[in-house]
Amino acid sequence: MDKIVSLSRRRGFVFQSSEIYGGQGGCWDYGPLGVQLKNNIKQAWWQSIIQERDDVVGVDSSILMNPRVWEASGHVTGFSDPMCDCLKCKMRWRPEDFEGTVCPSCGGELTAPRQFNLMFKTFMGPVEDTAAVVYLRPETAQGIFVNFENVLNTTRKKLPFGIAQIGKSFRNEITTGNFIFRSREFEQMELEYFVKPGTDEYWHDHWLQTRLDWYASLGMNPANLRLRAHCDSELAHYAKACSDIQYLFPMGWSELEGIANRCDFDLKQHSEHSGKKLEYFDEETKEHITPYVIEPSAGVDRSVLAFLIDAYTEEPDKDEIRSVLKLHPRLAPFKAAVLPLSKKEPLANLSKEVYASLRKAWMVTYDDAQSIGRRYRRQDEIGTPYCITVDFDSLNDNQVTIRERDSMTQVRIPIAEIKAYLFPRLKGELK
Ligand code: GAP
Repeated sequence: MDKIVSLSRRRGFVFQSSEIYGGQGGCWDYGPLGVQLKNNIKQAWWQSIIQERDDVVGVDSSILMNPRVWEASGHVTGFSDPMCDCLKCKMRWRPEDFEGTVCPSCGGELTAPRQFNLMFKTFMGPVEDTAAVVYLRPETAQGIFVNFENVLNTTRKKLPFGIAQIGKSFRNEITTGNFIFRSREFEQMELEYFVKPGTDEYWHDHWLQTRLDWYASLGMNPANLRLRAHCDSELAHYAKACSDIQYLFPMGWSELEGIANRCDFDLKQHSEHSGKKLEYFDEETKEHITPYVIEPSAGVDRSVLAFLIDAYTEEPDKDEIRSVLKLHPRLAPFKAAVLPLSKKEPLANLSKEVYASLRKAWMVTYDDAQSIGRRYRRQDEIGTPYCITVDFDSLNDNQVTIRERDSMTQVRIPIAEIKAYLFPRLKGELK
């Protein structure tokens, strides 16, 4: 983990939030490379969940919602952790964080455990009183449930169908840590997949496998992924069953994504609290039913961390150690780097032409500083899958050398063919 944190900071993947003011606990900023990686992960998820399926549509709902949403969803009363307060130093502790009866920090007297709600509260409008309280959403899911009828009416989808969204969520986590693994502001990629009651267990299994396959399709080592079913005492207040996709993080197997069977809990709750019937008319049986819902809920930040850890490799190279981020080309921040052998004309001119033409299609970088060996190393370390070297022969034969990151093999191809060469390789279809 230390190596990943250091690489992230040094190369511009992730910075501490508000660093010049000493940071802000549990909040992180993505740098120039991090935002690319994060966007590529979100894009790959959107493509597999929405673009390549007929049965799922997307939404983008607001973060601030009517506070009654959170009463109906059970978050106002149920989304809390038991905490003990130290009467002397005012620190707050989870019961599992200490042994005995006194504060582990100052030895002061502790209160009995009290429920501490994890939702951030703020006020909407000019008056700061209880009537103006709103919450920052702790999950994106509720923005989907409250739009169930809108989406059904506008898309005329038939069961089974899903509604998906990607967006920020906020939780006042007491213990944050393990870098971006557990933070207070994070992003989720959530799908609510509505099914006929009775078919829910089939679809739960379907989504467990589909989501596992997604991580593997983007190069994650399947040996570092596993499923773990929740026992009854662990289940969230809305779930009939839940399994986590766990990743073998440096601190041990930990949750990457939760896939829950929320049954009809949310639609029924919102029907009751809003007075609007959130139902589906089954043409076959001519009955109104409340669908069940299967919810694959993935963390964007945890995916960033898992993909970084999984891709990070150190291998001997002559007398040195080569650090390579073996990211899938679809996830790599830069798809290629253009490296001219000389900074001077006319080589610079030709190299910039190549660069200008490629960046219309992909994120490409240009590096003409220091030796070619050092430039390769810099690109390896940030996961750039292809380095395109423009040399003096290129001026005569109109060809360039393309070096592949993992095998370090090189091929020489005409400049006019670079795009056709890269296209299937950047999709991961060819090496
Ligand atoms: N709508 C269901 C739901 O929110 P969850 O298991 O609480 O379920 C789903 O969260 C995913 O969101 C987790 O698997 C994790 O990837 C991510 N997540 C949850 N809390 C997080 C936090 N404090 N920091 C980073 N990611 C978090």
